[in-house]
Amino acid sequence: MSAQGACVRRSLRLGVLGSGRGSNLDAIARAIASGHLAAEVALVFSDAAEAGICEVARRWAIPLEVMPPSAYRTRLEESVEEQVAGRLRAAHVDWVVLAGYMRVVKRPLLDAFPGRILNIHPSLLPRFPGKEAWKQALSAGVSITGCTVHRVDAGLDTGPVLGQREVPVFPGDTPESLHARIQEAEHVLYPEVLRGLLPV
Ligand code: GRF
Repeated sequence: MSAQGACVRRSLRLGVLGSGRGSNLDAIARAIASGHLAAEVALVFSDAAEAGICEVARRWAIPLEVMPPSAYRTRLEESVEEQVAGRLRAAHVDWVVLAGYMRVVKRPLLDAFPGRILNIHPSLLPRFPGKEAWKQALSAGVSITGCTVHRVDAGLDTGPVLGQREVPVFPGDTPESLHARIQEAEHVLYPEVLRGLLPV
């Protein structure tokens, strides 16, 4: 085996960023614990100390860091994002996984992990980018929606798609019932796409 071949990592080292409930982090942690995904979550970063994802990180004994407050709601200050990128690099993270992270990723992170930041979005992109995609799907009257894992670029939910799962919309669905069904699909899709990133 060449020196280069010897360095190929056989498991993924993930840094997860989230602002919400943390059910996708939980699904990834379960896939790892059950041996279905060769990975380690090296670090979880949240921009909300009270978010459910912090509790999920504690439950799985994953190192957790809370970002300092930011003056903006939709993005981090550049200096804060630089710090986050620095911490992720110091933790030798090779993939940054956005799991319900409610801020737009800017240059410091994009430049630190080019092509190596993933996001999960609750629609079949390019349909219904942006907020509350399940409500957009209901308003549009579609019978099929779903979820997408894509690489993150400088746009809003625009990066190259790595995987999708379809989810049916049923008559009588409420925003809550549809979002819950989409999330079940997300919990299968994210570990599946991550598995696909492992060297063969
Ligand atoms: C998911 O629906 C995901 O598609 C969206 O934010 C939600 C995060 O959920 N980006 P959770 O915090 O992983 O439960």
